[in-house]
Amino acid sequence: MTAQGSSHPGLSRRNFTMALGAALVAVPLAACGGEKKKPSGGGGSGDGNGAITFGFAQVGSESGWRTANTTSIKESAKKAGITLKFSDAQQKQENQIAAIRSFITQKVDVIGFSPVVESGWDTVLKEARDAKIPVILTDRAVDSADDSLYVTFIGSDFVEEGRRAGKWLVEDTKEDGPFNIVVLEGTTGSAPANDRKKGFAEIVGKDKRFRFIASQTGDFTRAKGKEVMESFLKSHKDIDVLFAHNDDMAIGAIQAIEEAGKKPGEDIRIVSIDGIKEAFQAMADGKINTVVECNPLIGPQVMDLVKKVAAGESVDKRIEAEEGVFTQDQAEAELPNRKY
Ligand code: AHR
Repeated sequence: MTAQGSSHPGLSRRNFTMALGAALVAVPLAACGGEKKKPSGGGGSGDGNGAITFGFAQVGSESGWRTANTTSIKESAKKAGITLKFSDAQQKQENQIAAIRSFITQKVDVIGFSPVVESGWDTVLKEARDAKIPVILTDRAVDSADDSLYVTFIGSDFVEEGRRAGKWLVEDTKEDGPFNIVVLEGTTGSAPANDRKKGFAEIVGKDKRFRFIASQTGDFTRAKGKEVMESFLKSHKDIDVLFAHNDDMAIGAIQAIEEAGKKPGEDIRIVSIDGIKEAFQAMADGKINTVVECNPLIGPQVMDLVKKVAAGESVDKRIEAEEGVFTQDQAEAELPNRKY
């Protein structure tokens, strides 16, 4: 398997060596050392049978990535013998806050959540701290100035994902130009939307051949991706590139592009993020040009962290996934290996 990676800037896009997809490698950040936590205040009373009780507030079920993430969390909790209290926030911050408060009332041992948006968590995180219930952030980060409000973060480097998408585009368009880019952004205010936008702009923004002509949220869903792409196509006749912050929006956009009588992947280059099977199929069919991987299968690592945190052991403050970049020429061979 091959993929593009920022650590190999001298290699052509065909030669990049892929980070082994599903393998999550713990990469403690130098600046964020391990942190010793006291055993939780819940003390196993959440389920009454002595097993660790983990309250998890999921974002929603907006994408194929999210479905895979939920399955990974549920299956891994079962396998680890952890009692899981699962809540689906339907992409609403107020629902997530209510779920966290309910976990506090139920005295779970550990709370985990993937924050819908980055800001606005301090109050509820302080409530968890007052109740002596440790919090693990999964997948998405919060922008709180006080990082003692959570024990650890496990997930992806979204800025790097945006950079990888940008680097692929710059490489792929080396001899040509100018190019008009439209962007389907993820949920407004979410860490992946903010960071992917930043990383992509960091690379593409300094290349004068590229012009951002439209950028709007598609809320990480297929339906909104299609809807927003339809409006882009109506107002702009000269779109060369679509950068979609996730595969589901790219797949929705493909429908809009085809309905507008254009060829996705040819008339409009498409780069997206996640790496769900359907996006690999679209790449194999020539409709998406490149997919930057984002790994949702973090359930086993989350459960290891839950056990350690509940036992009062030290854990790294930040744990990142190792991920790759895939191009059309790799899609067919890689399809059978995709686990989500
Ligand atoms: O936080 C990860 C992002 O959230 C994924 O890219 C997207 O598909 C999901 O909804």
